Amino acid sequence: MDSGNCSLLGLRGASRALILELLDRAEAFLPIVQGEEPPVPATRPAFIANLFLEASTRTRCSFEVAAHRLGHTSVLLGPSGTSITKGESFLDTARTLDAMGVDAIVVRTTLAGGAAAMAKAVGCPIINAGDGRNEHPTQALLDALALRGRLGDLEGRTILIVGDILNSRVARSNIWCLAALGARITLCGPAPLVPGTMMALAPDAISISDDLDAVLPEADAVMMLRVQRERGAGASIGEDYATAYGLTLARANRLDRRVPVLHPGPANKGVEIAAEVHEDPERSLVLWQVACGVAVRMAVLARAVA
Ligand code: CP
Repeated sequence: MDSGNCSLLGLRGASRALILELLDRAEAFLPIVQGEEPPVPATRPAFIANLFLEASTRTRCSFEVAAHRLGHTSVLLGPSGTSITKGESFLDTARTLDAMGVDAIVVRTTLAGGAAAMAKAVGCPIINAGDGRNEHPTQALLDALALRGRLGDLEGRTILIVGDILNSRVARSNIWCLAALGARITLCGPAPLVPGTMMALAPDAISISDDLDAVLPEADAVMMLRVQRERGAGASIGEDYATAYGLTLARANRLDRRVPVLHPGPANKGVEIAAEVHEDPERSLVLWQVACGVAVRMAVLARAVA
């Protein structure tokens, strides 16, 4: 899960105690995120390098906001404008940043295992902001924080995750996070996107279904995922995907009003989720997830550069 220096590489194998520590820290930061309390500048301002080699709006900007709310300084390196475009390797880029004395590197990469490889190559803490299909640990933590705010303790709760599970680092990190917190996880989608082998990720916590209408009534919360066409998932779905697996308004209306709906974003409205459900101010946690994301990233950065 980390490399011993307060890196955060993933949630596979993360203890319940560490997850709860990060969630509690993040919860304490929420009043700052909501503008109800002023930020408390760090006693030792740090320098954070945000190396985003894959597109991002939420994660990239919320790490920037989080660093600044903590009184740290950050620099953003995108997919263009670095010497990677001249052929420098991903790991040499990290070594270069480390040699400058940055206090932590936040990295998003298309390469599964890229964050872990970087952590082996440098001495400063590495925070995984999404590595290929592997993990997106801060997304799962922010989802857990948003869920906890609505449902309380997640022990024994059933969280339904719907859509392109196979290609989703969000799903993988959520599975390990939710399982560590004692939740039950139902994965639902067409068989090519939710193969039975996914049970092995957390055999005691997961169940799998290809029938959304059958599993919706059992859910305490519903997390809809985007079909990741950029990872080749489009070929696995038919034209009837939205009918079979979309959270349409009619489906949402059959759910108890207290069941929250989550989506990590970006959403394809009208495909995996109807616009009316995505924007429902009572049921949808989408924008609350974004706010929780800043608090979680503050907690993760505070731990990394303490
Ligand atoms: N949920 C998420 O990772 O969104 P971005 O790709 O916009 O960062």
